[in-house]
Amino acid sequence: MKIVNKVRQMQVLSDKFKKEGKKIAFVPTMGYFHKGHLSLMERGRELADILVISIFVNPIQFGPGEDFMEYPRDLERDLSLAEGVGVDVVFIPEAEEMYPPDYQTYLEVTGLTQHLCGLSRPGHFRGVTTVVAKLFNIVKPDIALFGLKDYQQYIVIKRMVRDLNYDIEVVGCPIIREEDGLAMSSRNTYLTPEQRKSALCLYQGIKLAERLVREGQRDAKIIIKEVIDYIESKPYTQIDYVKICHPETLDDLEYLNDKALLALAVRVGKARLIDNTILEVR
Ligand code: PAJ
Repeated sequence: MKIVNKVRQMQVLSDKFKKEGKKIAFVPTMGYFHKGHLSLMERGRELADILVISIFVNPIQFGPGEDFMEYPRDLERDLSLAEGVGVDVVFIPEAEEMYPPDYQTYLEVTGLTQHLCGLSRPGHFRGVTTVVAKLFNIVKPDIALFGLKDYQQYIVIKRMVRDLNYDIEVVGCPIIREEDGLAMSSRNTYLTPEQRKSALCLYQGIKLAERLVREGQRDAKIIIKEVIDYIESKPYTQIDYVKICHPETLDDLEYLNDKALLALAVRVGKARLIDNTILEVR
């Protein structure tokens, strides 16, 4: 497994792979790996000849007062886990090279970011699309893999790739959960044991909504209200949003008639947790 720190070195290496006719799969991450990250790498391993990952806690996607400084980091552990799933190249850029002092170019997907996390975290997706565009230009992948845990991020990146004609296939991978259902997240480490119990309310809220839909409920407002009441009954929780929206446009839905995205963001203690599912009407 090769570790690359310099942008130019990564570009030269990717050019070499391409010249050899090799297909490159790419998994961008902010590190502190769990099975969610590793599942993306395993899928990438299956889909291409060369598997490149990046580890970079991207400062510009964190708002003021967010957890950039505290974001958990453990490079040594990450490298050994990456090696274990057969990663070929780990790109670990330096912040100064990614964003030199005179940096002034940003990329924005407009409509899709005016929903869900885009509203509660202004500038977040601009930071994400900017860094992912830069990483795409550096790693030059054929395939890029993203987790559906960050559903909005996945569709925003898909839109960026489509709108800017990137010749990259974007693959979405299923949400990996703890045994009890909590979606895996690097931010789960912020939870105290008591808060960890409450954190299960996101997944339980999803299960509750699925049951209501199964029982015939089609009114989004009623489903949302039930989920909110359930989450609010748990200690340490503060709801950011519970939304039912169109899975492609992210516009709010009043009634369910086909597929609908149920998306939740809940603060549990100091951890801001997100989860989602596609509700299917049969
Ligand atoms: P990070 O939070 O490290 O996540 C890296 C990738 O892992 C993302 O595609 C995310 O959706 C996926 N992932 C995280 N938890 C998951 C889970 N439980 N199941 C499945 N996939 C999961 O997302 C980012 O980093 C950054 O925004 C990034 C895209 C790297 C840009 O900086």
